[in-house]
Amino acid sequence: MTETPDGPLGLLAELTHACPLSCAYCSNPLELTKRSAELTTDDWRRVLDEAADLGVLQSHFSGGEPLLRRDIVDLVAHASGLGLYTNLVTSAIGLSRPRAEALRDAGLDHVQVSIQADEPVLSDQLAGISSFDKKMEAARLVKELGWPLTLNVVLHRQNIDRIGAILERVEELQADRVELANTQYYGWALRNREALLPSREQLERAEQVTREARERLRGRTDVIYVIPDYYSRYPKPCMGGWGSRQLVVGPEGNAWPCLSAHELPLPRANVTEHDLGWIWRSSPLFTAFRGTDWMPDPCRSCERREVDLGGCRCQAFQLTGDMTRTDPVCVLSPDRGIIDAAVEAANSDEGPAVPSHEPAREPVLVPVPALVS
Ligand code: SF4
Ligand code: FES
Repeated sequence: MTETPDGPLGLLAELTHACPLSCAYCSNPLELTKRSAELTTDDWRRVLDEAADLGVLQSHFSGGEPLLRRDIVDLVAHASGLGLYTNLVTSAIGLSRPRAEALRDAGLDHVQVSIQADEPVLSDQLAGISSFDKKMEAARLVKELGWPLTLNVVLHRQNIDRIGAILERVEELQADRVELANTQYYGWALRNREALLPSREQLERAEQVTREARERLRGRTDVIYVIPDYYSRYPKPCMGGWGSRQLVVGPEGNAWPCLSAHELPLPRANVTEHDLGWIWRSSPLFTAFRGTDWMPDPCRSCERREVDLGGCRCQAFQLTGDMTRTDPVCVLSPDRGIIDAAVEAANSDEGPAVPSHEPAREPVLVPVPALVS
């Protein structure tokens, strides 16, 4: 049964695709929106108004690097004035003290800083620029100014063996929460998958270290660990269900149910042409995979169909070319062999290639010197 859910809880406002970093697992599209094509400040104010009308409670300002937008303080102030909980998702490059103080005065509620590793050499290699020291400085500033600090660490083959040291760094920075998120293989990450997918042995070690750290940090830091779905039997209910809880608006104004849907052959819905309420409730894009009516077998007759909702449409499309198929991660999927082959390669003796960060902001798979000793 396909019902229109209540309004989305969260808006992810991707203000820009521009970013000083060039991570090999970047969730930006392969084709980036030019800065000249970005929504204006007034456009974003209207999007925030419409989001609040729709029932959105949380507004996440992201990118690319949202601090590259000159109007970030104005947009935070606007969202805050609407009563939205505001979160800045940042690499922390550009979070100077004056900027941070202005954001605090504008009502910013929370800051999430991405870190790549626990130490500068690996961190800077993974980020593609010298940034580690600035990140540490910014994380300390976030705490000093009284914000809750979340650290986000994308885990992959190149940094997962350092998870113990990463957690020590998290402890030193007194983060309130750390998200240890294994890479999701879409877009750039899919193209660099061979170099990023960890081995089973690496994962087992990481999970053990994380369990121990969770005990040690109990009451001080929430430790969230997201397993890589390639090693799962069943897929995740991606985004809590298509068009169900979250809404993404990209730099050019296209709205999406998730970060990767721009790759799907579905009609666009742009906030400069339509009201966000119509986009959410009625657009062909947001209604395409809502609920369970769209499902083919084996999902259609599966007892887990309301649990994982057939998994991720973007993963199905990127791996099979058909967005309506069961997510290949599922052991019941006729396409599970695609996942098994990638996992087998990640566990072979030969070892994988290593990701590159050239050209900037367009990471591609070109061998560079090994990153982890
Ligand atoms: Fe989920 Fe579909 Fe697999 Fe069933 S067949 S577990 S509904 S993905
Ligand atoms: Fe798009 Fe999962 S990332 S549905």
